[in-house]
Amino acid sequence: MCGIVGYIGSKRAQDILLSGLKRLEYRGYDSAGICILEDQDIKVIKSKGNLDVLVTKVDQQTIGTQGIGHTRWATHGKPSDENSHPHMSTNGKFCLVHNGIIENYNELKADLKEKGFIFLSETDSEVVANLFEALDDGNLLTTARKVTAQLEGSYALCVLNKENTDEFLVVRKDSPLVVGVGEGENFIASDIPAILEYTKKIYILDDDEMALIKRDAVEIYDKSGDRITKKLREITWTLESAEKQGYEHFMLKEINEQPEAIRKTLAGRIKNDMVDLGLNMEEEYVKAINKIAIVACGTANYAGRVAAHLIEDKLRIPVLVSYASEFRYNNPIIDEKTLTIVISQSGETADTLAGLREAKSRGAKIVAVTNVVESSVAREADYVIYTHAGPEIAVASTKAYSTQIAALYLLLMELGQIRGSLEDETIKLWVKEMLAIPEKIQTILGNCELFKGFAENIKDSSSLFFIGRGVDSVSCLEGALKLKEISYIHAEAYPAGELKHGTLALITDNVPVIAVATNGLMLDKIISNIEEVKTRGAITYGVAFEDEQKIKEEVDYFIPIPRVVDAIAPLLAVVPLQLLAYYTSVVKGNDVDKPRNLAKSVTVE
Ligand code: F6R
Repeated sequence: MCGIVGYIGSKRAQDILLSGLKRLEYRGYDSAGICILEDQDIKVIKSKGNLDVLVTKVDQQTIGTQGIGHTRWATHGKPSDENSHPHMSTNGKFCLVHNGIIENYNELKADLKEKGFIFLSETDSEVVANLFEALDDGNLLTTARKVTAQLEGSYALCVLNKENTDEFLVVRKDSPLVVGVGEGENFIASDIPAILEYTKKIYILDDDEMALIKRDAVEIYDKSGDRITKKLREITWTLESAEKQGYEHFMLKEINEQPEAIRKTLAGRIKNDMVDLGLNMEEEYVKAINKIAIVACGTANYAGRVAAHLIEDKLRIPVLVSYASEFRYNNPIIDEKTLTIVISQSGETADTLAGLREAKSRGAKIVAVTNVVESSVAREADYVIYTHAGPEIAVASTKAYSTQIAALYLLLMELGQIRGSLEDETIKLWVKEMLAIPEKIQTILGNCELFKGFAENIKDSSSLFFIGRGVDSVSCLEGALKLKEISYIHAEAYPAGELKHGTLALITDNVPVIAVATNGLMLDKIISNIEEVKTRGAITYGVAFEDEQKIKEEVDYFIPIPRVVDAIAPLLAVVPLQLLAYYTSVVKGNDVDKPRNLAKSVTVE
């Protein structure tokens, strides 16, 4: 994910910027850059690749004491020297770095181009640099206010004005930014680890706040332009815990990032309550699709299975979901009317890539759902939907899964719009419900104490069962996978009605059975299945909507989730299962982020 560092003081800025960016490397990036202000001259050095590449390009003679730096994780435009930050305005007066996504950048860019502004990159960020120039009134603060009034989306911006060697400006909305306070020097960063080596005194900026950063002062302003006083915090974290933003593990951090990650997946893709993914698929082609193939591995495969339920139910298109490792050996029935959806967080999974190529060789068009811009899967697909989840560091996938589901829902709504198989009213309802998902996930996250207790209950079990009906049985697959991979407890996911055909023999006294029950139409059925296991001595847990009284009364332990339309319930149902797996791994003393025998990216067959 992108990282920002800024410095103003008396030391050589480039040393501080490079060391700060180094501290942000763990977040992942594909290019980097710095800009130094020296005698009213702006020097920009930027490069695709890692910081070592950048270091070979910096001029050791540069002694400027004010500058900004950035590591980029591509969202708009591929990783390249030109797309790297910082970006300059056309006349070279303003130079900035940006984290976040400017949703209306296309409109702004078209307008600025008409006015004669020049663009050297494909990024949304360069638009902001030129907007500063277009709206420049000679005062950085008031200019910034005019600029931000035109921006839709999220941003943390750090802006240098070439003519002002005494200060720079920062502003944020929905993207983090902190100010570090030193003696005769001040710092800014998107993340505390970048500057922790230099200062432990931090202001945390809130949304819509702006600050002028000077050598010996930090002036903070609220949205209406009034100067405000903020609490200066003393950071007591170690560098390692700062990288995890205070969370004990990356996995917990990533579980907690899901509300924000889903917001980013949706950002800029909903217009007038309808979906616009900007894929530019030809209507004639979309209407001719007579089958969908979904190809992915592990968690990504389960995200595909969730979408498959809804596609078949609502779009009435048959869906074949395959494990990518099997797909190409099964002589799949695929042709040019089969839309193939390939899902991969990393975009580099060897089996998935091979599946993509197999489908392509049979004439199918490919939609890639991936988190990594310009990954192999993204490059080889006909259409790409980026999940924008930010780097996932823990081996066990969490925010990738929920953002993949969100992206797939957007795709199915768009297909339904084009094919006329979904009513506008249905789409509008789902869109509204999707936009409310982040807040609802936050509610579940607020309940995490519950899962510490459950983890204690199940930690010594030798086997667990997850049961559900319909799409809930897919959430069960993901819950069981999470538990297996990090807690090392054997777990099986079962369509609840299938138990009696054999597996019920394994349900004996004290075997934990976790029922996921969000499917309103199948509620009585799952209640009967819970009964079946209870009479065999199982200890039952039920994940269901908070007002689902019947489930609450049926199970030994009730795990409430906020109500949402059934169609998108898997986005919520998975969160308790992630938390259960996480805390069980913690109580067992396992290496949560790096479970045994597993790797984050599986690039071999
Ligand atoms: C499980 C997990 C894996 C991945 C799978 C696919 O927590 O992370 O099952 O989902 O290896 O990886 P990507 O999505 O990178 O293709």
